[in-house]
Amino acid sequence: MQQSSIIILGIESSCDDTAAAIIKEGKILANVIANQDVHIAYGGVVPELASRAHQQNIVPVVDAALKKAGVSKSELSAIAYTNGPGLLGSLLVGSSFAKSFALGLKIPLIEVNHMQGHILAHFIAAPDEQKKAPLFPFLCLTVSGGHTQIVRVDDFLKMEVIGETIDDAAGEAFDKVAKMLQLPYPGGPLVDKYAQLGNPNRFVFPHPKVDALSFSFSGLKTSVLYFLQKELAKNPNFITENLNDICASVQKTIVDILISKLKNAVKQTNINQIAIAGGVSANSELRKKLEDLKNEGCDVFIPKFEFCTDNAAMIAITGYFKFLQHQFSTQQSIPNARMKL
Ligand code: KG4
Ligand code: ZN
Repeated sequence: MQQSSIIILGIESSCDDTAAAIIKEGKILANVIANQDVHIAYGGVVPELASRAHQQNIVPVVDAALKKAGVSKSELSAIAYTNGPGLLGSLLVGSSFAKSFALGLKIPLIEVNHMQGHILAHFIAAPDEQKKAPLFPFLCLTVSGGHTQIVRVDDFLKMEVIGETIDDAAGEAFDKVAKMLQLPYPGGPLVDKYAQLGNPNRFVFPHPKVDALSFSFSGLKTSVLYFLQKELAKNPNFITENLNDICASVQKTIVDILISKLKNAVKQTNINQIAIAGGVSANSELRKKLEDLKNEGCDVFIPKFEFCTDNAAMIAITGYFKFLQHQFSTQQSIPNARMKL
């Protein structure tokens, strides 16, 4: 008898993007995302509004993913969903939907750690693509709005955090500085955009004094705040007149910190397969500076743009690897806002 293909529906709702994706035998067939513009007016994600928007978006987004993939719900092998970390109200919408859909279809449920999903995004391939993925073991710098970690990845489902931030995440640093510069949320992509027109050496900000594999960004945030207050007292137009140079200088500081920690990790572990993941891996300067590591003999892997920021394809591919190992969850499983890797 011919075995049917493994088809996974992935659902992601940990923050402010409602996303669904279909992976068939490890190949991506559909990746649909509904962004929530409702938060822009507030300068950040409002959790209550995020869960309400997820409730409105989840059915149309899943429906669109199935249609785009040309897959009917009866063909699904399992449903993978983000179970944490993230905003509890947002996680509850995705997990409740996934549980009821799986119950109705009588198929297995697979819970996925969002941060593991970001890392395994490196294994998402198009149906006709011969994907060049990192070889195990590899190091992954995972940089998002809530996390900054260096992870040693020994296998698809075997990974360990070997360094992380002791306070703010890199994405948070980008977003908080952007807010000080009166840029709308999320500010990271805008800082990146203005930085491309500026002089990164115009202003100098300090690097934190922490352990070799630890990160800290709260000092940078305070130092940018004091710097802006001082300059604005002298010239109220300081930000508008120097926006590109401020963005370029702050971005250079953040990226230099990330790269120097990654180099420390390469030295300590002797692992030369290097990957980056998470929203900040979309940053153009970080992508460029990774070339330095290539010059030091490392193989560097950068996810496609669409798989850097939050998406459900990364949840579906993780679900696929868990399906192969029969790692299923139950209807009793509850989301964990602070889930660890
Ligand atoms: O992974 P992600 O989409 O969501 C979380 O899991 O947090 O990451 C979002 C973060 C935000 O802080 C956003 O400002 C940042 O990624 N980000 C960027 C860029 N694109 C997204 N930061 C710097 N440069 C970018 N191009
Ligand atoms: Zn994320």
